[in-house]
Amino acid sequence: MKVIFFNRQHELDKLIRLVFTEPNMITFIYGPINSGKTALMMELTRRLSDEYVAFYINLRRTPVMSYDDFIDVLFSVEFRSKVKTLKEAVSLILSAGKEVLGFPIPTPILEGIIREKKPKNAFAYIATLIEEVKKAGKKPILILDELQVIGDLKINGPLIYELFNFFVHLTKERHLSHVFVVTSDSLFIDKVYNEAMLQGRAEYFLVDDFDRETAVEFLKNQGFSINEAELVWEYFGGKPVYLVESIKHKDELKEWCESQLRLRVQAVNALIHGRKSLARLLKEFQDKEEIPFNGVISRPLRRLVKANILFVDPLKGVVRPQGKLELLAIRKALKLKPNVET
Ligand SMILES: Nc1ncnc2c1ncn2[C@@H]1O[C@H](COP(=O)(O)OP(=O)(O)OP(=O)(O)O)[C@@H](O)[C@H]1O
Ligand SMILES: [Mg+2]
Repeated sequence: MKVIFFNRQHELDKLIRLVFTEPNMITFIYGPINSGKTALMMELTRRLSDEYVAFYINLRRTPVMSYDDFIDVLFSVEFRSKVKTLKEAVSLILSAGKEVLGFPIPTPILEGIIREKKPKNAFAYIATLIEEVKKAGKKPILILDELQVIGDLKINGPLIYELFNFFVHLTKERHLSHVFVVTSDSLFIDKVYNEAMLQGRAEYFLVDDFDRETAVEFLKNQGFSINEAELVWEYFGGKPVYLVESIKHKDELKEWCESQLRLRVQAVNALIHGRKSLARLLKEFQDKEEIPFNGVISRPLRRLVKANILFVDPLKGVVRPQGKLELLAIRKALKLKPNVET
């Protein structure tokens, strides 16, 4: 059973308004894990009028460990050898519909890009292609999902800097294309936020779990009683992925909720076992749902973020569990270990 995209009216309105204006900033779409960022960007593409072309690049599709892997995801395999010239590449895009997965490229140009190992050449080609698409009367949008996976990749220096330079070129300098960078890695967002070359060139857009009212409405639409909907909310808050999953478990809802929590408690327990500094940090959530973020990613914080237990929002200046389930799991795990020193 396929769940139809639900709500996000406010976010969609804002994004549609944004793409209506001239491209000027890189937009970082961020939020806790499984909050519905990818689903939202897909829905945005669907809702846009035909004058838009969205290039959607998902860096999670295959592991990106090298320059060649990166080139592989940029220039989609389906389009390979389908075009012989730049003009043909543009025509292919114009006939492909609103969503294009990867950039079409003539083989000789691709071979040159692979041989010379210079990301700049790839970006120069993409900029030309986008410019031509724009000249043909379309409004290009670039969406890069899970960009943090190339965070550490180095090709004559960190690739991420070359990419950011390229995005600044596409937006602020040339106003050629909107650029959306989607990520659930809050350590990456924190780095980006502090990055000198992005000051005044990037904006941030939080996609959070649904609020209570929206989550309950979603479940009621799926045939849940108010009690059932509230039970799901108690365990998972408004995290879309769990709302969708709960539909499958409607007949044994309580057991399912309990088992999901048990798994999370075990994960937190395994993580803090023998690591007092982690337990000490988590203790702050015993009576609070979020704590202030002072700009410092300490080692325990880094570890808990990497393990997807905590989420850092540098814009709101808070640290909080990735979701309601994590909050409950933290509290339960600490109860099992009442002797943790503070
Ligand atoms: N508005 C929505 N309506 C219905 N289902 C949704 C909605 N948003 C998200 N979902 C569902 O919730 C699940 C998680 O969403 P999605 O993958 O978009 O989250 P994400 O924030 O991109 O996750 P990640 O942090 O892993 O990148 C998906 O199965 C998706 O279909
Ligand atoms: Mg995603």
